[in-house]
Amino acid sequence: MNKTIAVLAGDGIGPEVMEQTIRVLNTIEKKFNHQFEVLQGLIGGSAYDKFGTHFPEATKFICQRSHAILFGSVGGPVNESHHEKWKNCEKNSILSLRKEFQFSSNIRPAKVYAELKDICPLKDSIIKNGIDIVIVRELLGDIYFGEHRTYIENQLRKAIDTAEYDEKQIEIVAHQSFKLALMRKNKVTSVDKANVLDTSKLWREVLTEIGKQYPTVTLEHMLVDNCAMQFFINPCQFDVIVTANLFGDILSDAAAAFPGSLGLMPSASFNEKGFGLFEPSGGSAPDIAGKNIANPIAQIMSLAMLLRQSFELIEEASCIENAVQKALQAGYRTCDISANKTETVTTEEMTNRIIEFI
Ligand code: IPM
Ligand code: MG
Repeated sequence: MNKTIAVLAGDGIGPEVMEQTIRVLNTIEKKFNHQFEVLQGLIGGSAYDKFGTHFPEATKFICQRSHAILFGSVGGPVNESHHEKWKNCEKNSILSLRKEFQFSSNIRPAKVYAELKDICPLKDSIIKNGIDIVIVRELLGDIYFGEHRTYIENQLRKAIDTAEYDEKQIEIVAHQSFKLALMRKNKVTSVDKANVLDTSKLWREVLTEIGKQYPTVTLEHMLVDNCAMQFFINPCQFDVIVTANLFGDILSDAAAAFPGSLGLMPSASFNEKGFGLFEPSGGSAPDIAGKNIANPIAQIMSLAMLLRQSFELIEEASCIENAVQKALQAGYRTCDISANKTETVTTEEMTNRIIEFI
């Protein structure tokens, strides 16, 4: 197979985990006899250094020419957020990219790996036979893309952010979540705040309407505050969760507690044409950047999602996922997933082990 992949490593740990992930890609390419053309583009603070903008035209062009995008992470240290380089960096890069390519849904799987049960902060009696959830997050609406404004009124500084949804935006993720549930345990939990928000009332109505087209899938509605609590008292009840942009952002970080680290959480975003962007759910982690200690697994698993979902390379994707599982079973741990914090491997060593298992 001949395919072009736009690779946008970004900032912080992005470049180092991406470098390792490209080694995994090259290994798969050789083993399965494919040709992947990798087009590297700058994004975020690293793009700002060269082009004076976080999302340069050159990067947009690379993405337009590609069959899928593999994204790293963007953003700088919190104490430097006033620097021009980092000001609005996330908004200007990842949010612009989502808008530019109309990535309307974001899929974030969160599960407990059997071999990493010891780093899941929940008790065995709560984990039971395992937690396996997929969060479908709407990605182009809500408070993220409504009007933002900061102003002065009656000598007081004020700010507003507006949450907005139209029914079409909700329908897209509704269908996506029901289709996913059909391939899993046939259950969709739609999470909202319908006791307060109009956007949530509309959300609930649309989910209920679309749900009728999927009679074999059980649909339940849950308020977001309750959902947050259910994550910690009964997470096994969930199969597919579908929710609005902001709730999805928060719940997917909370769900990173199940595997035990954001360093294990891949994600995929799609537009209506099926074009996809694949990225770790976590951020650029500037505090550990450049130390060769970041966990490469979220980025490597994002590559596996890309191969499976954009190129339909099922065997290749499974090969990567099995290799990751074997490396974990063999006891290799980066520092974020090591229970005792001793005997850890570097980013590169972890990747070496994964490549050996491939
Ligand atoms: C995520 C991130 C982004 C978001 C930030 C970096 C803008 O937290 O992908 O979850 O809020 O969507
Ligand atoms: Mg987030």
